[in-house]
Amino acid sequence: MTNIILFGAPGSGKGTQSQLIVEKYGLQHLSTGEVLRAEIATGSELGKKIDSLISEGNLVPDDMMYGVIENYIAGLPKHCKGTIFDGYPRTVAQAVALTSLLKKYKLDALMIDLMVDEQLLIQRLIERGKVSGRADDNLNTIRHRIAVYHDQTEPIAHYYLRHGNYFAVNGNHGVEDVFLQIKRIIDREAKNK
Ligand code: AP5
Repeated sequence: MTNIILFGAPGSGKGTQSQLIVEKYGLQHLSTGEVLRAEIATGSELGKKIDSLISEGNLVPDDMMYGVIENYIAGLPKHCKGTIFDGYPRTVAQAVALTSLLKKYKLDALMIDLMVDEQLLIQRLIERGKVSGRADDNLNTIRHRIAVYHDQTEPIAHYYLRHGNYFAVNGNHGVEDVFLQIKRIIDREAKNK
């Protein structure tokens, strides 16, 4: 089973590359951003709280996210080829929680870090904001999301680097080129298993 933590700043291409990995390798895709937006769409009280956090570019609390991940991993079918974790973990506490959950189910994961220059991230998200309808795709919120990423999320890369299962990809290139780099990592790691 191949579990991949697809990591990177807002706009680095996690969702785009996840779709390509799903098509090529048949992995499942868990986007915590999508899960949260689905909860917002229900109009529930919880959804309203989540909406105000996301609209301001802040993270949803770790304990709320833990339930999402725990239920997901516990519900994985035995024959599953693996999962792409897109948007989780996002704090060191989430990384620690994910490691211990994976261990409980005798699973592991590698991290692929999509590294993209900040100016390009902003350009991509501003462009997407013209059509996405996402409340967080506006310049002020994008800047705040990137600041939150540097402050709370980026340190996780060091956590995985220390654990030896970290791979960086140059995400500044076109979609196909980035995917080529990702395929090389996945294929090489599969051979080494
Ligand atoms: P989430 O939905 O995960 O958003 P994000 O991390 O900000 O990432 P994006 O979806 O904006 O970008 P992406 O990296 O997926 O890039 P994409 O492929 O879409 O989370 C949203 C919010 O939910 C968070 O801010 C937080 O509040 C909350 N949340 C989620 N998970 C959480 C957690 N675990 N804990 C706490 N809170 C959580 O691409 C972006 C654009 O660029 C697209 O238009 C795409 O077409 C284009 N593009 C992509 N790749 C390329 C390329 N190579 N070349 C040119 N264009 C490209």
